[in-house]
Amino acid sequence: MPDNSRWNGNGAKITNLQEGRMKKIQIINGPNLNLLGKREPAVYGNASFEDYLSELRMRYPQCELSYYQSNIEGEMIDRIHEVGFEYDGIILNAGAYTHTSIALRDAIKAVSTPVVEVHISNVHAREPFRHVSMISAVCKGVIIGFGLDSYRLAIESFL
Ligand code: DQA
Repeated sequence: MPDNSRWNGNGAKITNLQEGRMKKIQIINGPNLNLLGKREPAVYGNASFEDYLSELRMRYPQCELSYYQSNIEGEMIDRIHEVGFEYDGIILNAGAYTHTSIALRDAIKAVSTPVVEVHISNVHAREPFRHVSMISAVCKGVIIGFGLDSYRLAIESFL
């Protein structure tokens, strides 16, 4: 019998059977999240996002996990537009733009791909300005406060 397996974007071998369930998921991290592992470790932990992402890719070979990080609001919006009519899901940690950006909210509303809002820290246990989200109401759901595991829980929501 011919081996019709191929390799997905994560370097994992997938079979035709699995291919039917292959999900394209885009993770977008916003401002200052490039510093994960170095930035306020008491709040955000010691792990870099790149190391955590490798773990996620090993754990979910049935998903093609793309990663994009930007400190620039407009670039995050551009990425949402780029994938937002094609991918199965977007996992968005908009960082501080969560609390301010009507433009990001409009971008999420404009696309057809469902967006899950995630936060590493429990924003509701922090300063009052972090209790408000401009984007929650237009997201499919919100996962807050589970550390980096928030991203894994968001992936689970798309499976
Ligand atoms: C954050 C929470 C935001 O309030 C903050 O500005 C961040 C990270 C989180 O993941 O906990 O940059 O989104």
